[in-house]
Amino acid sequence: MTKAMYRLLVGIFAVPLVWANPIPAEDSEYLMPNSTGFRLQHGFETILVQPFGYDGFRVRAWPYRPPTGNEISFIYDPPLEGFENGKAHVMDFDIASNGNRTVAIRNGRIIVRTSGWGGNLGGYRLAFYRVEENGSETLLTNEYAPLKSINPRYYRWPGPGSEFSAEFSFSSTPDEQIYGTGTQQDHMVNKKGSVIDLINFNTHIPTPVFMSNKGYGFIWNMASEGRMEFGTLRNKFTADIATVVDYVIFAARPGDYDTLQQRLSALTGRAPPPPQFALGFIQSKLRYENQTEVELLARNFYYNEIPVSLIVIDYQSWAHQGDWQLDPRLWPDVESMTEKVKNLTGAEMMASLWPSVADNSENYLELIANGFLSATRSGPGTTDSWNGSYIRNIDSTNPAARQFLWRTLKRNYYEKGIRNFWIDQADGGALGEAYENNGQSSYIESIPFTLPNALYAVGTQLGAGKLYPWAHQQAIEEGFRNITETKMGTQCKQISLSRSGYIGSQRFCSMIWSGDTTSVWETLAVQVASGLSAAATGWGWWTMDAGGFQADPTVPWSANIDTPEYRELYVRWFQWATFLPFMRTHGSRACNTQNAYTCGNEPWSYGKENTPIIISYIKLRYQLQPYLQAIFDVFHKTGRSIMRPLYMDFERTDPHIAEMTRRNTNTTTQQYMFGPKLLVTPITTPNVTEWSVYLPQTATTGTKPWTYWWTNETYAGGQNVTVHTPIEHIPLFYLGRREDIISGDIF
Ligand SMILES: *[C@@H]1O[C@H](CO)[C@@H](O)[C@H](O)[C@H]1NC(C)=O
Ligand SMILES: *[C@@H]1O[C@H](CO)[C@@H](O)[C@H](O)[C@H]1NC(C)=O
Ligand SMILES: *[C@@H]1O[C@H](CO)[C@@H](O)[C@H](O)[C@H]1NC(C)=O
Ligand SMILES: *[C@@H]1O[C@H](CO)[C@@H](O)[C@H](O)[C@H]1NC(C)=O
Ligand SMILES: *[C@@H]1O[C@H](CO)[C@@H](O)[C@H](O)[C@H]1NC(C)=O
Ligand SMILES: *[C@@H]1O[C@H](CO)[C@@H](O)[C@H](O)[C@H]1NC(C)=O
Ligand SMILES: *[C@@H]1O[C@H](CO)[C@@H](O)[C@H](O)[C@H]1NC(C)=O
Ligand SMILES: *[C@@H]1O[C@H](CO)[C@@H](O)[C@H](O)[C@H]1NC(C)=O
Ligand SMILES: *[C@@H]1O[C@H](CO)[C@@H](O)[C@H](O)[C@H]1NC(C)=O
Ligand SMILES: *[C@@H]1O[C@H](CO)[C@@H](O)[C@H](O)[C@H]1NC(C)=O
Ligand SMILES: *[C@@H]1O[C@H](CO)[C@@H](O)[C@H](O)[C@H]1NC(C)=O
Repeated sequence: MTKAMYRLLVGIFAVPLVWANPIPAEDSEYLMPNSTGFRLQHGFETILVQPFGYDGFRVRAWPYRPPTGNEISFIYDPPLEGFENGKAHVMDFDIASNGNRTVAIRNGRIIVRTSGWGGNLGGYRLAFYRVEENGSETLLTNEYAPLKSINPRYYRWPGPGSEFSAEFSFSSTPDEQIYGTGTQQDHMVNKKGSVIDLINFNTHIPTPVFMSNKGYGFIWNMASEGRMEFGTLRNKFTADIATVVDYVIFAARPGDYDTLQQRLSALTGRAPPPPQFALGFIQSKLRYENQTEVELLARNFYYNEIPVSLIVIDYQSWAHQGDWQLDPRLWPDVESMTEKVKNLTGAEMMASLWPSVADNSENYLELIANGFLSATRSGPGTTDSWNGSYIRNIDSTNPAARQFLWRTLKRNYYEKGIRNFWIDQADGGALGEAYENNGQSSYIESIPFTLPNALYAVGTQLGAGKLYPWAHQQAIEEGFRNITETKMGTQCKQISLSRSGYIGSQRFCSMIWSGDTTSVWETLAVQVASGLSAAATGWGWWTMDAGGFQADPTVPWSANIDTPEYRELYVRWFQWATFLPFMRTHGSRACNTQNAYTCGNEPWSYGKENTPIIISYIKLRYQLQPYLQAIFDVFHKTGRSIMRPLYMDFERTDPHIAEMTRRNTNTTTQQYMFGPKLLVTPITTPNVTEWSVYLPQTATTGTKPWTYWWTNETYAGGQNVTVHTPIEHIPLFYLGRREDIISGDIF
């Protein structure tokens, strides 16, 4: 039967979901390169498989009721690349089967083929293969179904309604390596063996997107809380509440992670180019308390001739939570402040906003009257408490609530010159803290749930909570795009900073930071793998609090700027921040002169001997602007990662990289490429004057491709070298010529 005939046949059924069986029964295997998709009917369960983007398939599955079409999705349909005529796929298919024969379709490099239980012909189990250059097929993964085990697509009905929970299992092998999964604080770049709850907390942004060393990528396109498990033989994804299960798999040559990132970002979003100022130095602390203090800060940057591009105002700058306005008693003339800051330093400003609304906020009545606040199943309820007030969170999953938020921010900040926004505590459910009841009780150390029954316009926290932080990024993006009359994906004029995010967060003018870390060496070290996992998840715009956010109460010197121990940690952490997508310092600092945690966190706060070192890194950051522009530009165009775990560039040229990555050795969890030329190895222990760095074997053999930044000494790849690292030097190597790095001529 010809393709035209299929189209005709399918066309006869106006609603594509209607059963159709156009395949001749005698064809037990039928490889359709140009199929629009197939639908399997499996008892009460339906499975729809469509070619999607380049070299990928989207799979949706549901028991009984077909999806409504209004399900939350983080996948573009059509994707940004790899579609014909820009037509959405919607629910198209041109092959239907009741499982009594094999169905196979091909999309570029990938094939999906069904198979049956016990070697039967036909079947309902999906298997995905890459087509190699020589035409042979390599199994990437298939639905995990050992003899008589539970179905790899498993459903349960835990509640009174038609919503279900779903557990989907895919085969793995002991040697598979898993990269991405959002961020955890676990020192792992390879997530094989991990069990990761899909529940957000401060510093944890679990996100079901991964790349496999077998040459495929996977997106579990679900807004539900749940779990990801990467076992020896099985990868399992659980959604606690769903109305459809939706995932995408796409293939590339093994080791070609740039292509996987290109495919991933074509499906989930490309980052726009950031505004120039965002690439400079971002000054922040907990907290500049009033206008006088901020103006003084700007004067100090001016007099000390230290460049700064963004100055940030932290929380409790408002009179009541949910005012989304600076407290006029502390900030009497915001316009004049932002103008002074600009005049003195050229810097833009950013202010914190929390999702929480207290009953005494001026916005409370309007918000509650319009249904813009999250509720609980037992009524309007409250969802958390902070600073003596019970609070409800704004429901940013509701478009009208997003508009309200933006209108308020525009009036109170944007029009007064504060044009960048910091989305804090909007992790979802409550205020995103796992380990304390928001400071109100020293007895409740850990909240055992993130209020799974918090209610939003789109559903419960359990069923849709992974959308919540993302919807905040969306709220600010919609505002930016509205006020600047620009389209999403184009040049950003402002940015937001968010503690959380989700699949495709890179599409917004929004950076993600690693959350409220502690100011100790171990935490510094663990941020590296967190950033590298963020990169593999597709989030290029990553940063962290240089110096750590807060004191570790068990470490007396932690976050105390008057101690030599903390000063050393700060300088090491700060110098690393130079080589991140965004260079930002922040945190709560103690000192010997005040009984407070709001002491200085400025470049001159860490002792006379350290100030010049800190300033030298800020200046280096500005010297690297062309390099930064170039790597952000390529990230914008193709999704090519900015922070690059070593496997991305060297797995195919260095035989040791795969094995070291598998074991999560320090080399692979604490070293990375920043763009194509710079190899960065932050110092993660105190009191060292030398550091061992592994220089990967590059494609060019027999030469000395690596140059040490501080001495110009050159080295061959494929070896460990020990370099001299006094406090003023971070171990930094580069490939190619320094002039090209400085001029940004690097691709
Ligand atoms: C598959 O089922 C259809 C109808 O249900 C039947 O006509 C056909 O012969 C079957 N094919 C095989 C290979 O069993
Ligand atoms: C599939 O589509 C491509 C491009 O439209 C075409 O070149 C190719 O011949 C088609 N293959 C088949 C088997 O129809
Ligand atoms: C085809 O290519 C694959 C992947 O490179 C390789 O594993 C396989 O041995 C090759 N097969 C033949 C017949 O050359
Ligand atoms: C502003 O904050 C600083 C630092 O906390 C404090 O010393 C000063 O008194 C405050 N000034 C005003 C006008 O509130
Ligand atoms: C609550 O916030 C207000 C206003 O920001 C602040 O002055 C006060 O100290 C805070 N109270 C507590 C208990 O943290
Ligand atoms: C900022 O600079 C401009 C031009 O130099 C000047 O007109 C204006 O008064 C300055 N604003 C403030 C608040 O200092
Ligand atoms: C901006 O939003 C307002 C409503 O808040 C709407 O009326 C207006 O059309 C929007 N403008 C643009 C350019 O989208
Ligand atoms: C790995 O790095 C950590 C610090 O980040 C250090 O404490 C540990 O000793 C290192 N392990 C090895 C085997 O070098
Ligand atoms: C730092 O190292 C030196 C020499 O390696 C040693 O003498 C000194 O005690 C160390 N200081 C601390 C604080 O560990
Ligand atoms: C290294 O080379 C650069 C020019 O590429 C030069 O500016 C710098 O002084 C050299 N450093 C040393 C230590 O020789
Ligand atoms: C480099 O050092 C690491 C950690 O000590 C070690 O495991 C590895 O074998 C070394 N590699 C080479 C090529 O010497």
